[in-house]
Amino acid sequence: MNIAIIGAQWGDEGKGKIVDLLTEHFSIVARYQGGHNAGHTVIINGKQFILHLIPSGILHAGVTCLIGNGVVVDPYSLFTELDALKAEGIRSENRLFVSDRAHVILPYHRDLERFAEDNRGDRKIGTTLRGIGPSYEHKLGRLGVRIGDLSDSRKDGFLAETIKRNVAARNQIIHDTPLDWTVVYSDLLSTWTRLSPMVKDVSEYLDFALKEGKRILFEGAQGTMLDVDHGTYPYVSSSNGTVGGICTGLGVSPRAVEGVLGVVKAYTTRVGEGPFPTELSGKAGDELRELGQEYGASTARPRRCGWYDAVVARYASRINGLETFALTKLDILDGLKEIKLCTSYRYKGKTLNSFPANPAMLSACTPNYETFPGWSRPTAGLREFEDLPDEAKTYIKRIEQVTSVPISIISTGSDREETIILKDSIARGWLE
Ligand code: IMO
Ligand code: MG
Repeated sequence: MNIAIIGAQWGDEGKGKIVDLLTEHFSIVARYQGGHNAGHTVIINGKQFILHLIPSGILHAGVTCLIGNGVVVDPYSLFTELDALKAEGIRSENRLFVSDRAHVILPYHRDLERFAEDNRGDRKIGTTLRGIGPSYEHKLGRLGVRIGDLSDSRKDGFLAETIKRNVAARNQIIHDTPLDWTVVYSDLLSTWTRLSPMVKDVSEYLDFALKEGKRILFEGAQGTMLDVDHGTYPYVSSSNGTVGGICTGLGVSPRAVEGVLGVVKAYTTRVGEGPFPTELSGKAGDELRELGQEYGASTARPRRCGWYDAVVARYASRINGLETFALTKLDILDGLKEIKLCTSYRYKGKTLNSFPANPAMLSACTPNYETFPGWSRPTAGLREFEDLPDEAKTYIKRIEQVTSVPISIISTGSDREETIILKDSIARGWLE
């Protein structure tokens, strides 16, 4: 079966670890949206790898990795990541391919993003400043440059003309540091030699692979609540990290997606600005951040921390058709006296069970919590469900009940081995 792995919160759910864990059962791992704003951390035998743009499957020799048309690609950042992998002995020749239709992130996208963020004043989004948003803006505005265009070295060709116009537009907005389009252009042309062996029609490649019965893992980046359509707009990223993004971002039919797994932390985090109903302020939030080492894998910013939010989880389940969950970082809750679980919101004296679209309404919501006793015996490193303390089992069962999504995988540590895959679970069925 072909499976999608999707973030069910605000990103950083531990998708990298879960993708890595399941990759041995697949031939292909494909990214369909986002860019190097993602930070997917995988730890193998104590060694940490952080993948930004390259699918986490690259850590398994023999697996083919694809970057689809829905992804925005910064060629320089791609090369940096490839060099870092190579230094660790991980080869990517003939097994990493980039869609010729993927859009390119250019230096002026980063400039425009910084300018836009500065202009938003106290409404800034807190983006990763990697040029992701402006690159997608140019894509939708039909001003973008695609990977396949980088082969065009004609002096008055499409690439030269597009860069020239885009740089001129950028210089009209940002006056103090003008950019020279010829520099942007010649730098970009020089990336083609290294890029060209990786460039493919990814949709066609997947079509052949599907016909040959190869198994594909679709790796989502960001999370449902950062999705440009379904997330907490405007405090979102600029792509569709939800399940629908797979079809548009890779050029595959919806029938290609045969199973959908959501990844959720046993609590909630968010980086950047925007609403977060179960956020813990002050000491409690700081404590969770330190326990979970909640600092951004891409930007090292401290993450905001709070309790598990079942309203968010139910919403993610509906949008993505989640069949099952991987629950990550359970061990971080080890030693806490009590643990809270938000089951619904309170809005103007009424109970709200579904996630509101209206930001003003959302900010007026307060969580309704159930409180659970913590566990005194650690869960860290456990590999069997039976070995979990009873209090942890109770908490997990309640999460399943209030979200109506069964849990297949529980992560009890950052290493690949520190994982429980539940017997008779949906995910286990997929892998057999
Ligand atoms: P992974 O795949 C967490 C957040 C940024 C910011 C907002 C918009 O590791 O889960 P952008 O640069 O994308 O325009 O920023 O989205 N953000 C993420 N937060 N995990 C991520 O990816 C994220 N990618 C973007 O912090 O709030
Ligand atoms: Mg991240």
